Amino acid sequence: MVGTAEQCHGVTAMTESIFFVEESNPKKKMWSRFCCSKSNVVLFLISVILTQWLIFYQEYHKWQAFQEKWNNYISELSDVQTKISRINELEGKIADIKSRPTIYAITPTFARPVQKAELTRLAQTFLHIFNFHWIVVEDSVKKTDLVTNFLAQSRLAYTHLNVSTPPNYKLGKNDPNWKKPRGVEQRNAALRWIRESLTQDDNGIVFFADDDNTYSIKLFREMEKIKTVGVWPVGLVGGLMVEKPICDNVTRKVVGFNSVWKPDRPFPLDMAGFAVNLRLILEHKNAWFSFTVQSGYQESEILRQMIPGIEHLEPLADFCTKVYVWHTRTEPPKLNDEQLLIKKGKPSNAGIEV
Ligand SMILES: *[C@@H]1O[C@H](CO)[C@@H](O)[C@H](O)[C@H]1NC(C)=O
Ligand SMILES: *[C@@H]1O[C@H](CO)[C@@H](O)[C@H](O)[C@H]1NC(C)=O
Repeated sequence: MVGTAEQCHGVTAMTESIFFVEESNPKKKMWSRFCCSKSNVVLFLISVILTQWLIFYQEYHKWQAFQEKWNNYISELSDVQTKISRINELEGKIADIKSRPTIYAITPTFARPVQKAELTRLAQTFLHIFNFHWIVVEDSVKKTDLVTNFLAQSRLAYTHLNVSTPPNYKLGKNDPNWKKPRGVEQRNAALRWIRESLTQDDNGIVFFADDDNTYSIKLFREMEKIKTVGVWPVGLVGGLMVEKPICDNVTRKVVGFNSVWKPDRPFPLDMAGFAVNLRLILEHKNAWFSFTVQSGYQESEILRQMIPGIEHLEPLADFCTKVYVWHTRTEPPKLNDEQLLIKKGKPSNAGIEV
C-alpha cells in the first residue's frame, strides 16, 4: 500500500515537471514529448504494477510461511495438550495400582513333560495383573535351567525358590489314606520367604496358585477385597462341576459347603478356592502346611491355624455364584513312541526345550 502511494506521487511530480519545463528548453521539450508519449506512460504503469505485484507476491509468500508455522505451532500445542491429559490419566492409574494390595501367588512346581506348558498358561494370565508377585518353588535339589530361564523371560515380578520333598515322605506305609503330599515343603518355603521378606507395612494377599489350574483375570480383582480369608467356587474339582461355599442370602455369610468329597473337613475347600490377607500370614508365624495330615486336609490345616471357623470367611465372586478358576489339570501325554526313541539314543527333543 505504501509502495503504491509513493508511485502515485512520483507520477504527479513528473507530470508537473513536464509542464514546468515545456517552454524554456527545446531539448527538454523533446525529452518531455518522448517522455509523455502514451506508450511510455503505459510501460511505466506496467512496471509499477509489476513492482507492486512482486512486492505483493513476496509478502504473500511470507504470510504463507508464517501461516504454516502458526498451524504447526497450533498442532504441536494440541499434541502437548493430548499428552498432558494422557499423563494425568496414567498418574491416576498408577495411584490406583499403588493403592491395591500386591498378590503373592505361590506356585509349587516339579519337572514333567507338561511343566513348561502349564507355567506358560499361568504366566500369560499373570501378565495381565499389575499388582502381582509370583513365588515359584521347584521341588528340586537345585533350580533347573528350564524354570530359571522361563522366569527370567516372563516379564513378571517373581521369586524363584527350590526345595526338594524329603524322601521319607514319599511313602506312607502305616496309613491307608496316605498319599504322598504334594507341595507341602514348597508352600512352606514360600511362607518362610514371605515372613522373612515382608512386614505388616506391606499390603498384600497370599494365594496358592497351583500350576494345574486355569485362572480368570477376574479372580485377582476379587482377591483385592480380602481382609482375612476370601473364598469362592472352583470349577471341575472334587468330583463336581463346581465345588463352592454356600452363602446365606440374607446375612451374606458362608454357612457351609457343597463338597461331596470328604465333606467333614473343617474347611472342605480346594487349594485354588481361597486366599489370605498377608497380615494373617505374618501374625500367625507358626502356621504351616503339614506332612502328617490326611490327604485333602492341607487347606483345612493351614486355615484352622489362622481363623477359628467358617464364620470368618469372606464370600467373593458375587457371593460365590461365579466361577473364575478351574482345575483343568493337563492330561499326561502319551509318550510311548518317545520311549522307543530314547532307547535308540535319539530322543525327539534332543537340543530342544519342550
Ligand atoms: C536350591 O538349589 C540351589 C542350587 O541351585 C542349592 O544350592 C540350594 O541348596 C537349594 N535349596 C534348597 C532349600 O534345597
Ligand atoms: C437365594 O438366592 C438364590 C439366587 O438368588 C435363590 O435361587 C434362592 O432361592 C435364594 N434362597 C433363599 C433361601 O432365599
